[in-house]
Amino acid sequence: MRASASAFATLAIVALASAPARGDGTPVSAFRKRPWLQSVEPTGASVRFELPQASRAEVALRGPDGATRTFASGAPVELHAVRLTGLAPSTSYRYEVHAGEATALGAFTTAPADARPFSFILFGDSRSDATTHAAVVRAIEGTPSDFLLNTGDLVERGDDPRQWDELFDLEHRLLASRCMWSVVGNHELIGDRRGPAFARYFATGAASGEPRLYDTVRWGDTRFFLLDAMDDWTGPERDWLLARLAESDGEPGLRHRIVAAHIGPYSSGPHGGNRAMHAAGIVDALRAHHVDLVVAGHDHAYERGEAEGLKYLVSGGAGAPLYPVARRLPTSAVVESTYHFVEVKIDGPTIATVVHRLDGSLLESCSFEPGEPWRCGVGAGPAASAPSAPPNAVPTARGQRCSCEVAGAAASGGWGPALAAACLALLRRRRRG
Ligand SMILES: [Fe+2]
Repeated sequence: MRASASAFATLAIVALASAPARGDGTPVSAFRKRPWLQSVEPTGASVRFELPQASRAEVALRGPDGATRTFASGAPVELHAVRLTGLAPSTSYRYEVHAGEATALGAFTTAPADARPFSFILFGDSRSDATTHAAVVRAIEGTPSDFLLNTGDLVERGDDPRQWDELFDLEHRLLASRCMWSVVGNHELIGDRRGPAFARYFATGAASGEPRLYDTVRWGDTRFFLLDAMDDWTGPERDWLLARLAESDGEPGLRHRIVAAHIGPYSSGPHGGNRAMHAAGIVDALRAHHVDLVVAGHDHAYERGEAEGLKYLVSGGAGAPLYPVARRLPTSAVVESTYHFVEVKIDGPTIATVVHRLDGSLLESCSFEPGEPWRCGVGAGPAASAPSAPPNAVPTARGQRCSCEVAGAAASGGWGPALAAACLALLRRRRRG
């Protein structure tokens, strides 16, 4: 049972009566970056937020039993990472952050401790165009999921603090209620080669004081490997990845492995695939350890394919200027230059995807099981989670190709029969031609 809003407001008033002040005694009045979730696990979660000046802060947490616990940060600092501990798996919590006179609300559900079905939203390359980025975020806000997975290039320049402020302003509602794991993009490293800004906000090890640009997390029966794709794959990240892949071979209860890297091994866009990954044998290692899916961004388009058994998605359509298809790879099943995001649903052996264009239409719906080919088209994937098109979505250029795998029908109810009819008509026209 969730706590009532009024009860939690009472809690907030009580907490504010003893609100912590900043180091010099003057209370802060606003957040520089409102709270965002990180490292959500079965029994813990982190709430991060940034203040305009160093100050103490605390997080009041209320669980389904109505009991409230307060977690205080340590010394006065600007960037806080408050770890909430002792939580129950698959359980919903509400939280309220207090920092001086500033307060903010959020809610989340902890990760499961079992293999129950779950879903996440895949998106990336949101830099450079705040209007389109905001429209994509609004569309994602209307699409339920357990968490978010970002393919990188969150900002145009990693060394520009204003761009990080803008990112958190645009996504603050989303990030207060859904943990976003992100891989580092090449743009995060512009002017910031070692990535301290990215690590400051999104590195999973930041709470423990050992931030790095690559990591692995587990949700349910799936392990995610989050890579720094700009590495040359001759040093520590290579050794780390090979060791973690080997460990996962014997990991109890693990069914799926998903690798995320900003620059993936395959792309039909102008950037192309990650040659260093191939040259270093990383792609072969992913196959050897039965990685189910590699997701990437960098080329600003959507692409789905499979290369010698290794399935891949490119999802780089969350706001950055769209790229044309440069040279369609023979491994590519679908590629379209369009703003979009991808729902990924994992249920037992099945990994299913629903690709939403920004205009509210469905690009395609697919699923597969380990070792089996993609199954796409009408009825092949799960039902979309009632996506709601943003009220002022930016019109997008559609790909000129249409096939039974590349749907152009609206996402409203009953799109399946209409799509089937359209595809049949197209096939008949092709046969006549
Ligand atoms: Fe990029």
